[in-house]
Amino acid sequence: MHTFSDHTMPPAAAPMRLGVCYYPEHWPEAQWAEDARRMVEAGLSRVRIGEFAWSRIEPEPGRYDWGWLDRAIAVLHAAGLGVILGTPTATPPKWLVDTMPDMVALDAMGHPRGFGSRRHYCFSHAGYRAEAVRVTRALAQRYGQNPAVVAWQTDNEYGCHDTVLSYSDAARDGFRVWLADRYGDVAALNQAWGNVFWSMEYGSFGAIDLPNLTVTEANPAHQLAFRRFASDQVTVFNRAQVEVLRELSPGRDVVHNFMGFFTEFDHHAVGADLDVAGWDSYPLGFLDSFRFSEADKLAYARQGHPDIAAFHHDLYRGCTRSGRWAVLEQQPGPVNWARHNPAPLPGMVRLWTLEAMAHGAELVSYFRWRQFPKAQEQHHAGLLRPDSVAAPGLGEAAQAARDLAALGPAGAPPRSVALVFAYDADWVTGIQPQGAGLAALWAAFECYSALRRLGLDVDIVPPTAALDGYALCVIPCLPIVPEALVTALADFPGQIVIGPRSGSRTIEFALPETLPPGRLQQVFPAQVVRVESLRPGLEHRGDGWAIARWLEHLETAAAADLIADDGTVACWQHGRVRYLAAWPEPALANEVMARAARDAGLEVHAMPEGLRLRRAGNRAHLFNYSVAPVDIPASLPGRFVLGTRRLGPAGVAVVEPD
Ligand code: GAL
Repeated sequence: MHTFSDHTMPPAAAPMRLGVCYYPEHWPEAQWAEDARRMVEAGLSRVRIGEFAWSRIEPEPGRYDWGWLDRAIAVLHAAGLGVILGTPTATPPKWLVDTMPDMVALDAMGHPRGFGSRRHYCFSHAGYRAEAVRVTRALAQRYGQNPAVVAWQTDNEYGCHDTVLSYSDAARDGFRVWLADRYGDVAALNQAWGNVFWSMEYGSFGAIDLPNLTVTEANPAHQLAFRRFASDQVTVFNRAQVEVLRELSPGRDVVHNFMGFFTEFDHHAVGADLDVAGWDSYPLGFLDSFRFSEADKLAYARQGHPDIAAFHHDLYRGCTRSGRWAVLEQQPGPVNWARHNPAPLPGMVRLWTLEAMAHGAELVSYFRWRQFPKAQEQHHAGLLRPDSVAAPGLGEAAQAARDLAALGPAGAPPRSVALVFAYDADWVTGIQPQGAGLAALWAAFECYSALRRLGLDVDIVPPTAALDGYALCVIPCLPIVPEALVTALADFPGQIVIGPRSGSRTIEFALPETLPPGRLQQVFPAQVVRVESLRPGLEHRGDGWAIARWLEHLETAAAADLIADDGTVACWQHGRVRYLAAWPEPALANEVMARAARDAGLEVHAMPEGLRLRRAGNRAHLFNYSVAPVDIPASLPGRFVLGTRRLGPAGVAVVEPD
């Protein structure tokens, strides 16, 4: 039997595979065999299909049409491709929505999010959940033992298009049950949420609505409970499919494709039910769509910011127990959905592919095989143009396949820095930002970026992770601190950096009785007695860095580690623990991370602008994201297995010890 990858061999001993997302239902059957032949010719060995095909699999209620899918799978398999088969539950067909109109989600204004695109369902709707399980069961019965099928993908991009939060009746009813389970007694809920404030007390669980359509902001504890509930709904929805697939297709990996910079549900919880965490990598679309500076958006327009892809590689590796992960969709050219959609610099598709390998991916699968001339994504590149002529991405994928064959397996991943991230951190900072743009996800990204500019390797881990083997643990912004983390930190012999807002809330969204950093006072003796957010330009300048956006005032016996020119303390130090009392803006984050890395005894290499380093096994992999050639620092000596010391734009080098 095929497997998803060859990572059933000892970890990191198998070469990464390449694949492509393919939609046989979009193309004449006569074209399938030639498509499959060309895929294999380009060095691809996996093909991901089926995730949007419900209307063709089941054209009418209960009438399945397997013929075309049987033949498509057989053709792909005959060419030598292993199939990753998607459950089609992201695109329920019209007949289903018509029979069950209340299955759609409602937005916060109460408007239905109707049929005509995709993801038109509410995670809480019991009827739709049953339908999703039914179609999954039918597919798994048909293909669960098919030798072509190497893995299953559940649904597609949970939460895409803002679909985790639904304000439907089903969600409201489910939320009430969830609350009753969690609190037992409504008086306990009132107490936990502080509902006496503004007379928000409830007499029963049945009286509690969803936190939308309120006059001003709803109680943050109410909002957080709703976020937790909604996240649990995603986990439960996914798990129902996973259970069917495990029953009917044992031994095959189950994967899902997560998104970029997306935190609406707890990916650690969903990941716990998966074998492989997949994610969809669109570096140029993400750069244009998210909060990067205008200067970065221009400088990296055709490459993507050098930390975008790597950040997610290192994040999703921490989302399954096994650490197995893959890129299930890789941008192959211009996309259609950002505000601006430039073409990648020649070489970037290859660079992104090889970088995923260096971070330990099992598979990179390009999205999509051929650009589709109709419907929503007409301007989205594929590896082929709509007329089947090769697009630039195809040659780069083929080159990457040759590079991978020459390089062999990536080698064991290093352990040096653990960066702690939790999804509820981003919910808390989103619900109560206290200042524009101060979200935990971006604090994590800034700290990550600073570490990577020092040439360090980072694992992004949940707060429950074991910290053995790391030299440095960075907690960029973690309002709710689980006891397990405090215990792990107390035993951790390495350096620790605690960032702003950490330990600042209880699990019920209240200030801790002892004031922030709450539980973290066990490792860092301080009280945060006042916080302020700072408008752009309101800064306390230090030596090459500044306190900007956010500042905490501490009462502490710790020593000042970084002091601004006007005497304001940006960072405190107590033994091996640093407390960053300001937002991790790039220059300040650089300074703090450099100090912590030095004290941790880590080998650092100052990266020239745009260059990034990733170690695996005994190799150093270098990636040039800048539009100009860069010189790899002389502090990284060795033999070049790939590339040269002067690396051109989009260049990749692999260096081994002499
Ligand atoms: C992803 C999605 C794909 C496709 C792609 C376009 O979000 O999973 O189906 O729409 O974006 O870039």
